Amino acid sequence: MKFDVVTIFPRMIEAGLAEGVISRGIAAGVLDVAVHDLRDFTTDRHRSVDDVPYGGGPGMVMKPEPLVRACEAIRQARGTPDAVIALSPQGRQFDQAAAARLSGIRNGGAHLVLLCGRYEGVDERVLDLVGAEELSIGDYVLSGGELAALVVIDAVSRLVPGVVGDDQSVQEDSFSSGLLDHPHYTRPAEFAGKAVPDVLLSGHHAEVRKWRRKAALARTLERRPDLLESAALDEGDRAALDELRRSKT
Ligand code: ADE
Repeated sequence: MKFDVVTIFPRMIEAGLAEGVISRGIAAGVLDVAVHDLRDFTTDRHRSVDDVPYGGGPGMVMKPEPLVRACEAIRQARGTPDAVIALSPQGRQFDQAAAARLSGIRNGGAHLVLLCGRYEGVDERVLDLVGAEELSIGDYVLSGGELAALVVIDAVSRLVPGVVGDDQSVQEDSFSSGLLDHPHYTRPAEFAGKAVPDVLLSGHHAEVRKWRRKAALARTLERRPDLLESAALDEGDRAALDELRRSKT
């Protein structure tokens, strides 16, 4: 899986790639992430990447030329990407389904270019010219697309075989099944007067599985009932949900 990130703050991206699962994926050669300083694609003395907005108003807009030049250089040096993504609060919402789509675009690993906007945004013509889709990581405004790019890289990379050691744990993550995850406990069995649920100490795998599924359903019903509409639920799940709803009232 290959990522190219275009940013005016390369060190922000590099810092986010330097630890944990992503850094191990890079070291293992499963992930290939190149970070590009947008200012390297400017041609003026001041290395300017922004300019005042046509039509007036506050803030600055990212100039089109450096961004288009950066995309062209990436295409030549690293090949034609499967998708160019501009991180922006105006984008479509990034979620687990989008992460799965982006990780699976191409067998053997997709190639994504991530453009990190700053200021009021990028000149609209860039999006058309480089064929970018806009993606938002949530309904809030960040100071730039860098943190959002790291979020996308992390969530997409986890789905690439060989990045997370335990594939089972990725499959059981929240949202992979369409539900929130069940609660987790480790030793000691009692801590600060609070005990781990008995069933988890019982060694009855089928009972543990049943308890976890019901706890996941209970959490999802409580915190994110919207997810239940598209989650894959069987008869047992529906019965458990009915029971949970009845016990609430
Ligand atoms: N840039 C600023 N805010 C953002 C958001 N919510 N998602 C993606 N990119 C952004």
